[in-house]
Amino acid sequence: MNRDGQSRGRGGLRRFAGALTVAGFVASILLLVSSCGRRLEAERPVAVVPCPETVVEGEGSFHLTERMPCLLPDEAGYEAVGEALDEVLTPCFQHPLTRVRRLPVRGGIRFECCDTLADEAYRLEVTHDGIRILSGAAAGAFYAVQTLRQLLPSGALDPESRVRTVEIPTVVIVDRPAMAYRGLMLDVARHFFTVDEVKRTLDLMALHKMNVFHWHLTDDQGWRIEIRRYPELTRVGSVRRRTLIGKDPGGEYDETCRYDETPYGGYYTQEQIREVVEYAARRFITVIPEIEFPGHAVAALASYPWLSCTGERYEVRQTWDIDDRVFCPGRESTFEFIEGVLDEVMELFPSEWIHIGGDECPTKMWAGCPHCRERMRTEEISDLRGLQGYATARVERFLQAHGRQLIGWDEILEGGVTPTAVVMSWRGTEGGVRAARQGNRVVMSPSTYCYFDYYQTEDTDSEPLAWGGFLPLERVYAFDPLEGLDAGERCCVLGVQANLWTEYIPDFDQAQYMLLPRLSALAEVGWSLDRKNYDDYRRRLRRLIRIYDAAGYRYARHGIDD
Ligand code: ACM
Ligand code: ZN
Repeated sequence: MNRDGQSRGRGGLRRFAGALTVAGFVASILLLVSSCGRRLEAERPVAVVPCPETVVEGEGSFHLTERMPCLLPDEAGYEAVGEALDEVLTPCFQHPLTRVRRLPVRGGIRFECCDTLADEAYRLEVTHDGIRILSGAAAGAFYAVQTLRQLLPSGALDPESRVRTVEIPTVVIVDRPAMAYRGLMLDVARHFFTVDEVKRTLDLMALHKMNVFHWHLTDDQGWRIEIRRYPELTRVGSVRRRTLIGKDPGGEYDETCRYDETPYGGYYTQEQIREVVEYAARRFITVIPEIEFPGHAVAALASYPWLSCTGERYEVRQTWDIDDRVFCPGRESTFEFIEGVLDEVMELFPSEWIHIGGDECPTKMWAGCPHCRERMRTEEISDLRGLQGYATARVERFLQAHGRQLIGWDEILEGGVTPTAVVMSWRGTEGGVRAARQGNRVVMSPSTYCYFDYYQTEDTDSEPLAWGGFLPLERVYAFDPLEGLDAGERCCVLGVQANLWTEYIPDFDQAQYMLLPRLSALAEVGWSLDRKNYDDYRRRLRRLIRIYDAAGYRYARHGIDD
């Protein structure tokens, strides 16, 4: 191309760019004119879920404009708080607030560390001049941002909105959680959820100020975590040949049972696991992995037959109820295996706690196994259930040698549990109460209040197929995890957890439907136990669902409309 041509080309381009700029300028003037007038007014009264400790409303509002700055401390974790703030305000202004190192006297959002507040506690002050957020540590500031999100006017939540000013009601909110552990368990073994869906679940948790994600990664119907030392776990164990359609008849499988013959599978690579753990950490959520042992093991036994009592080759399970085929605690190779798995699990998950399941483990196979019999003789174990106690205690010693703590479902109490194990009470609260009385730490997660795979209404015909049960919103809200415990025993209760088992939850749409709004009720149990009021909660919930709507979450209307 000659110089002339070149210059013509460039000149043409410049003129085109100029035309674009003029068009862009006109468009932005129009936008400016239309959005300038669009100031979103404050919505009152203040309504926050979970219920803050104190809310003192003032007169008038603070006008937060898109040009106002934000000041964050340099302390650990505040970068993630800044990201959370950006996520909350970007839908409204279409850009984050500018970070500055010094704030003007008026306007803007100032975060400050405060020695007298606990890590998760915060004080949020909205005055006519600005927003000030004090917190014990970054976690508290993160929760203050979640509260701020609920103070925004509805129009500011819409990702399509573009406004220049939002009004926030003047208010002082002082807040802290009643319980240290506010968990959600997601079963990804029965049905698999992608990394993006798991992240969306973590977003949901963050909105509700929940802080422990219990990831149920292995079960009879699928092994979902890559273990490099044992590649067959994912090559074989992550795929079931077919899946039962409809309700499981509970052992009575015959020709009337129908199956979806499409192989069903999925697992997370170690890289993806790291990505999820990091994503959770930026939302102040700890991820506790669960590796089921010694029951719920069929996917593992299908991958490595030498892990069972008989050494038979099994298929990954295609139906849902409890299975007799469990790990053989008589063989040394079983312990070598579980320690090898846990070595990699501990590399991936910085959580102090590692969940080893322990629930629903039939002893039938052990009764007929010479290795198990020999183990009972040499270890002087008098009954078969004692074998589970032996296996659990061995795994706990291994975890403790690596600086970790064992957590298990309440069946671990039956085999005789060490004082250091954390007990997750699911068969009612009885196990939890017993454990707390003997000084074990406890997470309360009884099926009667916390199993979100149960129906939300008695009109089950109008609902998607569910496990069974009946757990309406009001009942979740009524849960008192400390009932029946004296002051000393109450200290052993770390908190509460909702469980989403997914036998009948094939996709994320339905998972959200089962979680919401019940998750908000359990969040309020964990965060606001000492200040619960169902009628007031429902009033606040009706405001919270503006956020569900804006974020596109699917949720049930039971308990909201009626
Ligand atoms: C459980 O629901 N099997 C813990
Ligand atoms: Zn055995």
